[in-house]
Amino acid sequence: MRGLNDRVALVAGGAHGIGRAICARLAEEGCQVVVADLEADAAERTATEVGGVAVVCDVTDQEQVRAAVGTATDRFGRLDILVPNVGVAAADSLETIDDEGWAAQVEPTLHGAVRCIQEALPALLAAPGGGRIVATSSVNGMAAVGNIPYSAAKAGLINAIGNIAVSHGPRARGTAGASAGWVRANVVAPGTIRTRNWTENGPEQREMLERIPAVYPMGRVGLPEEVAAAVAFLASDDAAWITGVTLPVDGGLLTGPLTHMMQLGWPEPTG
Ligand SMILES: NC(=O)c1ccc[n+]([C@@H]2O[C@H](COP(=O)([O-])OP(=O)(O)OC[C@H]3O[C@@H](n4cnc5c(N)ncnc54)[C@H](O)[C@@H]3O)[C@@H](O)[C@H]2O)c1
Repeated sequence: MRGLNDRVALVAGGAHGIGRAICARLAEEGCQVVVADLEADAAERTATEVGGVAVVCDVTDQEQVRAAVGTATDRFGRLDILVPNVGVAAADSLETIDDEGWAAQVEPTLHGAVRCIQEALPALLAAPGGGRIVATSSVNGMAAVGNIPYSAAKAGLINAIGNIAVSHGPRARGTAGASAGWVRANVVAPGTIRTRNWTENGPEQREMLERIPAVYPMGRVGLPEEVAAAVAFLASDDAAWITGVTLPVDGGLLTGPLTHMMQLGWPEPTG
């Protein structure tokens, strides 16, 4: 892909799963990668694999996020690409969830991403050719598929990124956009992706992973590498005129629900 070679990227939540695949793909495209993650050992492992730099960072802690951005700029002298990729989901019902339970999902998933953007923004605005933000949302942020706190946070992230694309794009930053500094900001919205959240989270999740391909027009779940490819594209110069969009990476899930219901058989009428 064009325009990724020699750029500096910070991936928050980069140690495992989708984030790890994003680190690997960006490194393969020639980026210097900073792997920022809560889990020190895993971050170090991924950084070693991709020839990058690891930094321990909890996105709910402003000082740690600031330090992670500082690692990128101190080490490489710049930051071009930010991927806020952390998401925390738990099975909670609206009837029983309390403030603490709500915050445990919404704080890292929405505010964590926004905090990363806030801290990275000065460096991203200074990036030659414009900074690039590609945030990981979810199909949960685009449709009512359950898990209200997580889904609401992912929907909020889509809105935040849209606003940032407008408020920090070249037009808003003045006609001398290049010198004033600007960013492109986009979102990927994955459907079910085979990561440890499905494979290592108990028998119920594993069983769901076996059954869920039936609702996907592509007939299977996705792979972390398939999300990473979309992230790399949106971060690259090949997407130079794309900003403020949310790209579903969902095997067609959001496109064909009605057709699918027909194929699977309509449910019995209730009442
Ligand atoms: N796997 C899926 O089916 C799926 C679907 C749609 C969206 N997503 C989203 O994709 C992203 C990655 O998901 P995944 O399945 O690869 O998850 P994962 O758990 O495998 O990876 C998430 C990473 O974030 C790190 N992390 C968690 N809390 C953190 C914090 N407070 N600060 C810093 N790092 C933290 C974890 O250590 C881990 O490395 C998430 O935003 C998730 O919501 C996943």
